[in-house]
Amino acid sequence: MTAKILVVDDEPLLEYVIQQHFREKIRSNELVFSFASNGRQALEQLESDPQIGVVLTDINMPEMDGLDLLSHLKEKDSTLKAVVVSAYGDLANIRTAMNRGAFDFLTKPIDFNDLELTLQRSLESVQQTRADVTQLQQAQTYLIQSEKLASIGELVAGITHEITNPVTFILGNVEHAENYFHDLINVLNLYRRYCVENIPRIQAAIEAVELDFVLEDLPKLLNSMREGTERLDSICKSMRTFVRADTSAKELFDIHEGISSTLIILKHRLKANDSCPEIEVVTDYGDLPLVECYPGQLNQVFMNILANAIDALEDYNLSRTEAEIQANPSRIYIRTEAIANYKIVIHIADNGPGMTEEVRQKLFDPFFTTKPVGKGTGLGLSISYQIVVWKHNGQLKCNSKQSQGTEFVIEIPRHQPSIQANTQE
Ligand SMILES: Nc1ncnc2c1ncn2[C@@H]1O[C@H](COP(=O)(O)OP(=O)(O)OP(=O)(O)O)[C@@H](O)[C@H]1O
Ligand SMILES: [Mg+2]
Repeated sequence: MTAKILVVDDEPLLEYVIQQHFREKIRSNELVFSFASNGRQALEQLESDPQIGVVLTDINMPEMDGLDLLSHLKEKDSTLKAVVVSAYGDLANIRTAMNRGAFDFLTKPIDFNDLELTLQRSLESVQQTRADVTQLQQAQTYLIQSEKLASIGELVAGITHEITNPVTFILGNVEHAENYFHDLINVLNLYRRYCVENIPRIQAAIEAVELDFVLEDLPKLLNSMREGTERLDSICKSMRTFVRADTSAKELFDIHEGISSTLIILKHRLKANDSCPEIEVVTDYGDLPLVECYPGQLNQVFMNILANAIDALEDYNLSRTEAEIQANPSRIYIRTEAIANYKIVIHIADNGPGMTEEVRQKLFDPFFTTKPVGKGTGLGLSISYQIVVWKHNGQLKCNSKQSQGTEFVIEIPRHQPSIQANTQE
């Protein structure tokens, strides 16, 4: 990895000397130096290049001296390390510099071996601090997101619970209503058959309500009410499986149930609509054992990966002609398999546009997105990665090439280390 160092000194010769001394490392791109002749210029350069990790600065310079620069560095980037170069014996300035957060100091004339060692140490320290900060940010993002998920989960679980009861009694009553209605039709038909006397008031009422049409339409109507309620019931079941407000507990889970419930929740996005043809989902489920995991979180991973596939396919279809779409319809392919007795693997592939190698490499970075503002936050896959890799000791990989579709491979160990002994087959 290239390390970037900013040298701040009003002595123009220093640039030449440094370029000479470090020429090997500069040539091999191990080190990149940039130069400024006072504190103000240094701040401008830091503004335009956030990759700079170490600032090597003189103290006495025009416009803004090194001590003033030190006071500004912390506000700019707290991970930066500053090394101060001062005259031999200038203890007062060295004390001030250290108090203002300098990482180390060197004395003039510069001993280049000492300089090399000091830069090395400073760069290592910057890299470590930046890695720690990134890890901390990821952990924070994960925490915020899981808090959000937990509260959304609670909300959805609450609403689902409230809807489930009325749906259940409508479903139960629709069945009775259908039976009663058949009985009523039978009685009515018997009347019409055996009570043949023509009573004008009854005749008028039959015509007014269009009885024949009603008799023909009512069964269809009741049937569609039953279908609708059954669908509501299955959505409620899926929501319950999907949200399982169990973010803190591992349990044995049927992965296929998780995938199916996610697909039901995404159903509206898979169906054809005005702007998009249907997206077909093909499943090839292996014989999977129950898996010890956090079900709500794994469902979140399925949701993120499937929603991304749908986004990619929808986007792809906008740029394809009808003939191209018909020749190669949008498809998501889900395959599961158990590997020996210790892990399960889920493949989720799409025949969408695929991605460039550059995108593939940044895929799991927090906030990386190629979607327009308001559509993507760039968190879906980074959170999925944390759930699979950190929370489940699994692996999440992506195989993709531009114009050749995308495949995500999720591997989850069947047992989690801490409670392995308690699980049943
Ligand atoms: N199946 C896919 N096909 C093509 N590109 C994909 C696919 N899945 C993910 N990507 C790319 O990876 C990027 C990051 O995905 P990620 O899910 O992390 O964020 P997002 O979908 O952009 O936003 P968010 O999920 O937070 O709403 C996407 O913006 C997209 O460019
Ligand atoms: Mg996403």
